[in-house]
Amino acid sequence: MNIKVGKLIYSGKAKDVYETDHSDKVVVKFRDDITAGDGEKKDSLQLKGYYNSIISSKLFEVLEAEGIKTQFIELIKSGEMLSNKLEMIPLEVITRNVAAGSLLRKFPFEDKQVFEPPIIQMDYKNDAFHDPMLNDDISIALNLATKEELDSIREITLKINKTLKEFLANKGINLVDFKIEFGYDKNQNIVLGDEVSPDTCRYWDIETCDVLDKDLFRKGECGVMDAYKKVASMILDP
Ligand code: TMP
Ligand code: ASP
Repeated sequence: MNIKVGKLIYSGKAKDVYETDHSDKVVVKFRDDITAGDGEKKDSLQLKGYYNSIISSKLFEVLEAEGIKTQFIELIKSGEMLSNKLEMIPLEVITRNVAAGSLLRKFPFEDKQVFEPPIIQMDYKNDAFHDPMLNDDISIALNLATKEELDSIREITLKINKTLKEFLANKGINLVDFKIEFGYDKNQNIVLGDEVSPDTCRYWDIETCDVLDKDLFRKGECGVMDAYKKVASMILDP
């Protein structure tokens, strides 16, 4: 597609979004920045944007093939994704297949406890309030979504989890948990946006149990980029 990139319309902690000469399409540029703790810990890792863009694109394609609507159109160049423009809903929708991370700090679950069915948790995407956990009543009172929309987001998320979990397991990766974000497209459909990458998921190597995601950075361990590169090669391997 012949696209002209216009001005910057949104800049997040790891991605920039640009308008284009097509009013319903944007270009998402994945930067090399990596942050944790509401942006308090920061670094830049060469090629991180590139790897996150190819991993997200592949996983969006896998989801599209199962009939799940995503904003992804195509990768136009290294680290740059042409996407349908969405009006984002400020919800961080987290799915947990295995107990890890903040869940263990907040509740008396056992480390690595398996959840079947998975736990779906929704947090309010709001750095100033440190992304607090929501329930349906609070989400509705904050006008984040209606009850019907929340139910629909939950249903789509369960399907996304099933699809990604099976796909990644076949590639040797245990999908421990992940965070996704949704938005409305120009027809008011609820569509998966943002990214699905090692920045936003916990991936554990099924054979070695190695951590292959941003937890390495959060915990100050080395080998962050090697892990992202490994995920890319595992999932892109035909
Ligand atoms: P948590 O256990 O720290 O709450 O994280 C749950 C999942 O959400 C994990 O896969 C990492 C992801 N995540 C984000 O994508 N962004 C965030 O800001 C946080 C805190 C977690
Ligand atoms: N995304 C959050 C931040 O950049 C935190 C995290 O992913 O742990 O601060």
